[in-house]
Amino acid sequence: MRRHTLAVLPGDGVGPEVTRAALTVLDAAQERFGFSTARTEVPLGADHYLQTGELLTDEVTASLGTADAILFGAIGSPRVTPGILERGIILELRRRMQQAINLRPVRLYEGVPTPIAGLTPARCDLVIVRENTEGAYVAQGSTVHRGTTARVAVQESVNTWYAVERAVDFAYRLASVRRKRLTLCHKTNVLVEAGALWTDVMSAVGERYPDVETDYVHVDAMCMHLPVSPERFDVVVTDNLFGDIVTDLGAVLQGGLGVAASGNLNLDGSHPSMFEPIHGSAPDIAGRGWANPAGACLSLGMMLGHLGEGEAAAAVESATAAVLADLPALAGEGMGASTQELGERIAATLTEGSAPTITGSLMSQLARVMGGDDVAW
Ligand code: IPM
Ligand code: MG
Repeated sequence: MRRHTLAVLPGDGVGPEVTRAALTVLDAAQERFGFSTARTEVPLGADHYLQTGELLTDEVTASLGTADAILFGAIGSPRVTPGILERGIILELRRRMQQAINLRPVRLYEGVPTPIAGLTPARCDLVIVRENTEGAYVAQGSTVHRGTTARVAVQESVNTWYAVERAVDFAYRLASVRRKRLTLCHKTNVLVEAGALWTDVMSAVGERYPDVETDYVHVDAMCMHLPVSPERFDVVVTDNLFGDIVTDLGAVLQGGLGVAASGNLNLDGSHPSMFEPIHGSAPDIAGRGWANPAGACLSLGMMLGHLGEGEAAAAVESATAAVLADLPALAGEGMGASTQELGERIAATLTEGSAPTITGSLMSQLARVMGGDDVAW
């Protein structure tokens, strides 16, 4: 039987709730598709930090490194100064595990309400490939004259050909199994140094993918095009900070942050990839069962695609989409069922196999791009 080793990091706030729901769906997927997982829960987050003062130790890094994949809930707590847990755990994990890209699908499923008037599922199916290790996220910079009004802060953005090339190459590969259209999103009219590097990498890598059509959009214009005409995009590749910002906008198109999934992908197999819903820890609603588990479940689907379980991945996606389409509201008390009940509903839908198949499933495309199962999609 195929067996995968998982590290599970439920984290803070609603993280443990949505992770538990996703694991219920994973149980159902294993049962139906005949594979197993060995799961180790790792208690990183605010509680652990407040008790021990530890963030991501070398020992934990080494043990996480032996997993086939990491399933992540959320990190962040009002009990800890903003930035400590986020930078010390999430960003540190992305960097140490060499998770070169953050893959963020923006897909509106059939029957799911979106706040964008007139938007239809047929017009909203794109994927944002966010460079995940550098840009403004390198945490390099300096402050002089601290504590005075003469203070000067310099925050650097680092762009290496190496990291940009691996992100852009992945984006081309993904575009070539999709609609063969790749858009670079940047701000080349102002950030001329970084912009030129990204543009040159796009051209150089593009020679290896002659059948992929390319396009360029400034990040500010992207904020206008994304809600108004998302159909013009298939795969979008962008810098770390721009990717952070535009993917929250992308989540809105899909119905909200609770629905959006992501995969932090290690592309060379040296370390595990990590899958996380893009909503944060939402401490204001933690413990009430009001968090939508869809983002966590769709992230689980991406994880399964990455592990080569393409059929299970597609089934998780279609079951999640079917349950979402039936909800009276996409978040909070109005969902009419708790986080865990929704996890159980998605699991039952998956077991029955009753959800309509999703065509062009990203989850299955991922299995193909990562060199796993080549399933029909
Ligand atoms: C995200 C989050 C993180 C980021 C934060 C929590 C550090 O906003 O995953 O989009 O900026 O990458
Ligand atoms: Mg973000």
